[in-house]
Amino acid sequence: MEVVILNDPAAIGRVAADTIESLLTRKPDAVLGLATGSSPLAIYDELAARCAKGQVSFRGARGFTLDEYVGLPPEHPECYRNVIDSVFVSRVDFAPGAVVGPDGQATDIPAACAAYEEAIHSAGGIDLQILGIGTDGHIGFNEPGSSLASRTRIKTLTRQTRMDNARFFDDNLNAVPTHCLTQGLGTIMAARHLVLVATGHNKAEAIHHLVEGPVSAMWPATIMQHHPHATVLIDDAAARRLQLADYYRETYSSKPDWQGI
Ligand code: F6R
Repeated sequence: MEVVILNDPAAIGRVAADTIESLLTRKPDAVLGLATGSSPLAIYDELAARCAKGQVSFRGARGFTLDEYVGLPPEHPECYRNVIDSVFVSRVDFAPGAVVGPDGQATDIPAACAAYEEAIHSAGGIDLQILGIGTDGHIGFNEPGSSLASRTRIKTLTRQTRMDNARFFDDNLNAVPTHCLTQGLGTIMAARHLVLVATGHNKAEAIHHLVEGPVSAMWPATIMQHHPHATVLIDDAAARRLQLADYYRETYSSKPDWQGI
């Protein structure tokens, strides 16, 4: 696992955008895994700016979102389908229908989850998966106790996650859905490159477990320690509980520019 500690979210956005731009140059029909939430916004801003300048194009690319709330009407602005459209998809040049998500409206949820797994498989799998991390260590919405081999399925959100996300629902905890469909940890682990972004003090404990803790379903993101190509992009605040922070800084600063993440 490579740990990159940078000063600010914009710098994190640039490093992640560099690797996505280089992937799309090598493979214009690349498949991206897209997270919602606050953490990836700097990446999406940077990619939208580069796309506007003609530096990168998503014309041949496809996207799969990580998760979706269950129980919100489809027109609700916090449906992740609508969020990803407004923060990213509508700002770049994806072909119509190229970005899809799990169907939070499905009446047959197991069938919808199986169909989502099949769609990812038929697209050739995910080349690069963008991830945030919950304060309780979730990735996607794989909450503590999730099977480390899980596939797309319905999950119950923890009270902590619902409190964390209440800021998107006018601070009204009761308005935050209790369930979601999420790619499983096994689904996420099948992506060829994982790029996780975290900023701020409130992520420091989860980052400490992810990078330096034992692999455990209690901190689901720790499964990433088993991934052959996982990159963790964090700011100083999120890095503050890392024992080897100086080593990670030194390693990244001595890396040749051409190498990327
Ligand atoms: C969102 C997702 C979640 C978030 C996580 C962090 O699609 O899968 O795992 O990445 O809850 O959220 P933020 O970035 O808002 O702190």
